[in-house]
Amino acid sequence: EKGGWDSFMDKEIHEEPHAVADTLLGRFDLEGRLNLDEVRIDEEIFRSIDKIIVIACGTAAYAGMVAKYAIEHWVRIPVEVELAHEFRYRDPILTSRTLVVAISQSGETMDTLMALRHAREQGSRVLAICNTQGSTIPRESDAVLYTHAGPEIAVASTKAFVAQITAAYLIGLYLAQVKGAMYRDEIRGILDELRAMPDKIQRVIDTQSQTIEAAATKMINAQSFLFLGRHVGYPVAMEGALKLKEIAYTFTEGFAAGELKHGPIALVDEGEPVVVIVPPARGRNILHSKVISAIEEVRARGAYTIAVAEEGDDDVRDYADVVFWRPQCPTLMSPLVDVIPMQLFAMDMAKLKGLDVDKPRNLAKSVTVE
Ligand code: BG6
Repeated sequence: EKGGWDSFMDKEIHEEPHAVADTLLGRFDLEGRLNLDEVRIDEEIFRSIDKIIVIACGTAAYAGMVAKYAIEHWVRIPVEVELAHEFRYRDPILTSRTLVVAISQSGETMDTLMALRHAREQGSRVLAICNTQGSTIPRESDAVLYTHAGPEIAVASTKAFVAQITAAYLIGLYLAQVKGAMYRDEIRGILDELRAMPDKIQRVIDTQSQTIEAAATKMINAQSFLFLGRHVGYPVAMEGALKLKEIAYTFTEGFAAGELKHGPIALVDEGEPVVVIVPPARGRNILHSKVISAIEEVRARGAYTIAVAEEGDDDVRDYADVVFWRPQCPTLMSPLVDVIPMQLFAMDMAKLKGLDVDKPRNLAKSVTVE
């Protein structure tokens, strides 16, 4: 079943270009007009939505955090992202104009299910983003947009994450279309960018795997890792940290690079590995220089720095001990490529430690208790 791969995780990482491409398939035409009829919520209702709340757990919640940056930017309505188990028990503000987006690979996560039931009881509409046909979460939601990542077997989620971001982006663009928040050309431009991502993901896998494995070999005895990123790189840093916890059992902390000086930098000592997601450098991106200075800060305190950066980003070379390169792409698309080295790195670390990468201790693929 593993089709020649060492592990399901390995296989599933290699399926990521397809996961994104298949999730896009048939959902818009060449003029850039999205067609989400399958979702079966009236355009009129979509037009009335004035707030989105994403509920999810684990990796799915990080996909939601990425989507928040994009959807707020495109649609100009507030997007909140909340862990499903926190949401349910705090009396959240829900109205008939709130769209609750429940993201779940398995469609069976009890925390997410309980949260969506609560949202529906309060009169909000729930749209599921789910990878498993006919599972409980889509069945109990008002509507569903399926991710077409194919079955995900490894406990640590990989291809579902990129497919979830893709699906959430489609929902954002659809909302922009029905609300008239963007011109057709802009939407078409973004769809073109999305369509270009599978090849870019493939390129990361093809060109970076050896460097990543060499870095994992070198870091095998590290006791802890810090991950930092900014903007959409922030949830990617959290996801990278989660992967390493889940399968390599390493203490990790993911945080927003801007927070460094407000606390986490106290953890940095000689040799501490710090993984930094570097935003695109082009267009004199202010965030780029801020993240580069974060690398300088930790390096000055002895950190061993691993950067994920865009091809052609010469500034990074001077500051990072190791660089995992990704192809150039717009900032909002970058999580789809930046997460790949994070996943490969965690997998290599776990394998080198002789661990079962597909079935980490204490974890289940879907948690069906609250
Ligand atoms: C956890 C899984 O228990 O549930 C994670 O181990 C996953 O990999 C999380 O991200 C959420 O699962 P789902 O199926 O709701 O996306």
